[in-house]
Formats: sequence, structure tokens, C-alpha cells
Amino acid sequence: MKIKKAVLPVAGVGTRFLPATKTVPKELLPIVDKPVIQYLVEEAVQSGIEEIIFVISKGKEAIIEHFSDHPPLMELLQKRNKVEILEKVEPIHKLAKFSHVYQDEPMGDGHAILQAEKLVGNEPFLVLFGDDIVKNEIPAAKQLIDHYKGESIIAAQEIDKADAGSYGMINPASQDEYLYEVKGLVEKPLPEDAPSNLGVIGKYVCPPEIFDAIREGSHGADGELRLIDGFIKLQEKQKVWAYAVQGQRFDTGKPEGLVAANQAYLKNC
Ligand code: G1P
Repeated sequence: MKIKKAVLPVAGVGTRFLPATKTVPKELLPIVDKPVIQYLVEEAVQSGIEEIIFVISKGKEAIIEHFSDHPPLMELLQKRNKVEILEKVEPIHKLAKFSHVYQDEPMGDGHAILQAEKLVGNEPFLVLFGDDIVKNEIPAAKQLIDHYKGESIIAAQEIDKADAGSYGMINPASQDEYLYEVKGLVEKPLPEDAPSNLGVIGKYVCPPEIFDAIREGSHGADGELRLIDGFIKLQEKQKVWAYAVQGQRFDTGKPEGLVAANQAYLKNC
């Protein structure tokens, strides 16, 4: 079944970038001349996605506006004969069909994804977290989608075990080139408790069964619902896979990651 929809949970507050993110959503911070979120939308579209569903919170509507038509700006650029800039700005609102839902409370990424359930319906879908940018000729999301055979696929990359506390960590069962069957998942373990050095990157292909699994999965001590707990629950019924995505990854949720992404993409300009 073709994967046509992507859910992008972008409701979180970018505390690491305050005061820059006091009024500007962190997803609109730039990598060179485009906001981070546009890289993710383009990754999705280049991977065959036709509809983007943003899960936002109040105050983050500028994300929706970025992907809307802006006739006065287009007219101004036309009047000033800024053809090159016009060609960059004009197509943005036509990249895909855009819709959005609200997550009213910060109840975790699993809870955010549940808000999009009605819009997704009964079909498999892509999830892209707002921070993970992978620079590669074949988009990371396409690498996952190309290997989708009806069961979940989680993007993974080898990470330094000392950083295990920042990642979901994978216990791989078997391996076929870059594809691993997942035996277990542990969210942010101590380095000594990490089952391998394969860390979860924020890109996932989910079957529609994930919605029930998120609801039925364990809740965090704080009551939050997390996507990773949904996968752990789903494993009771079906297999979960991990794909070691090829490309250079940047964690743009951290200042040093955003700066590194800017340096890498600037070289291409
Ligand atoms: C989330 C996931 C984690 C994953 C990470 C990737 O954590 O819960 O499993 O490794 O994204 O970016 P967060 O970074 O939102 O705390």
C-alpha cells in the first residue's frame, strides 16, 4: 500500500533555543535560507508523500502560515523582478496538501500522533520528528518507505553508547544489510544498559495499528504517551523493523546541531 500521509508532531516548546524561540517556533529556525521544517516537508514529498499533517500547539500557527500562499509577497517579488527568489518561495504552498490538528496539552509524542488519527484513517503513514535532519541524496524517509512491507520500520543510526541516554536504543535480532528485526526497544537507557549502539532517529513508518498500541502501551511516570511505548506494545502482535538510514544526521533540536547543519548545507550553496 502506498504511503501518502505524513504526520509531523511539532507542538513542543523549543526551550533549548530561548529566547530565540520566545515567539518563533523552533521548527522555523533556518538552515541557511530555509526553515528546518521545510527540509522535513521536502524530505517527505521527495519520498512520495502527498499530504502533510502538522500536530501543533497554540502559538505555533506560523508553521502553517509558512506553507500557505502569500499573494502580497509574491506580487512584491514580481514587481521588483526578483525572479530567483520568487522561484524559491512560490512553490512552497504547493509542495503537498497541508492540514493540521492541535495538541492541547504536552502529553508526549505518542499523544501528539493520536491527535492525527482521524486525518490519517486506516492506512500506513510516515512520522517525522521535528529535529532530525538527514543529509543524503536518497531521503531518509524514502529509505524507510522503500522497505515497508506492512510492518513498522524505525529509522536508526549507530551512535556513541555514551549518548544512549538521549535516544531510544534498539536490541537487534537479525540483520539483512541495513534492515534489522527489532527484538527490543529501551527508551533513553544508561550507557551500560544499552542493548547495542543502534539508536532511534525520529523517522518512522507506522501501520494504522500503532494508534491502539499507543493507547494500550505503558504510560510514562508523568502520564505521557510515547510513540516508542506504542512500538513496544505493537511487538506483541507484529514484527517491528529498524533500518540503518544512510546519510549525515543533524540534531537540529540542539544549538550545536543546528549550527553544524548550517555549515554543511552552506557548502552546497
Ligand atoms: C525521541 C524518541 C527517542 C528518539 C529521539 C530521536 O526523543 O523518544 O526514542 O531516539 O526522539 O530524535 P526526544 O529527542 O524527543 O526526547
